[in-house]
Amino acid sequence: MTRRRLVVVGSVNMDLVVTLGRLPQPGETVLGEQVLTVPGGKGANQAVAAARLGARVNLVGRVGSDSDGRLLRASLRASGVGIRYLQPVAGPSGVAVVLVAADGENQIVVVPGANGLLAPADIEAAATAITRSDLVVAVLEVPLATVEAAFALARRAGRPTLLNAAPATPDARALLGLTTLLVINEPELATLLGRPVSPGEEGEAAANLLSAGPAAVIVTLGERGALVVTPAGQQLVPAFAVTVVDTTAAGDAFVGGLAAAYRGLEQLREAVRFANAVGALACTRLGAQPALPSEAEVTALLARGSG
Ligand code: RIB
Repeated sequence: MTRRRLVVVGSVNMDLVVTLGRLPQPGETVLGEQVLTVPGGKGANQAVAAARLGARVNLVGRVGSDSDGRLLRASLRASGVGIRYLQPVAGPSGVAVVLVAADGENQIVVVPGANGLLAPADIEAAATAITRSDLVVAVLEVPLATVEAAFALARRAGRPTLLNAAPATPDARALLGLTTLLVINEPELATLLGRPVSPGEEGEAAANLLSAGPAAVIVTLGERGALVVTPAGQQLVPAFAVTVVDTTAAGDAFVGGLAAAYRGLEQLREAVRFANAVGALACTRLGAQPALPSEAEVTALLARGSG
């Protein structure tokens, strides 16, 4: 496979991961087991996932002027991600508090810090990389106006775009006219539509978003797999069965895998199957970036079959 040139516009966080027996209810105090500090952030996770799978990735983002910012840049460089467009800005880096329960489920709170300062001017600085890329990927832990500037530039240059509308807000609909591939989970689908979506209704609901612009909407359904919705119809691409340790960054791994494998809409199903394998493997280890798989691991899971 030729190495894809990708640009990811997105967030970079330091994750404070707490493992515990079960997630707390509102107002409840529970005892945790261990605390780990690991590199995360949806944009950074997607960039690292794609780089581990052989893509040439530039990350457009912001870290703070603190020690976390220095550690996060160094860690991304070591993972093979281009950090020329990931410059420090005065103030703290993004931080996420990630609770991981024994069943692998999580709760995450993100304090954006420097991510909130990523500006449209930062997109202009990365214009050459964006207009030469095979795919521009963006996630919404950075300002919407900045993603819009990146996608508008990509569109003018005839480059496809992948929007992972996470976390989703109703305002994100404004980006759909500039989006080629929209990747969302079930709650994000409901947020974009502005109404609840019943189980089993996801395909029909996602089809409503096609008229806003995307060529394909891909709804990630966890252990059920991913639903690919295009004007030609909908198709479920089943998940790979794995033993789940931690679902953190499974969606990011899926997006990074999809971006690395994407070769056009005609081969979308194959790229989604590949992405399913990357997402499944990320669930088998604790943490965000430490859990992202190598190309050899993905190849082995694909060869094992099913999915
Ligand atoms: O998707 C997982 C990521 O969400 C974590 O790494 C955390 O930083 C938040 O951005």
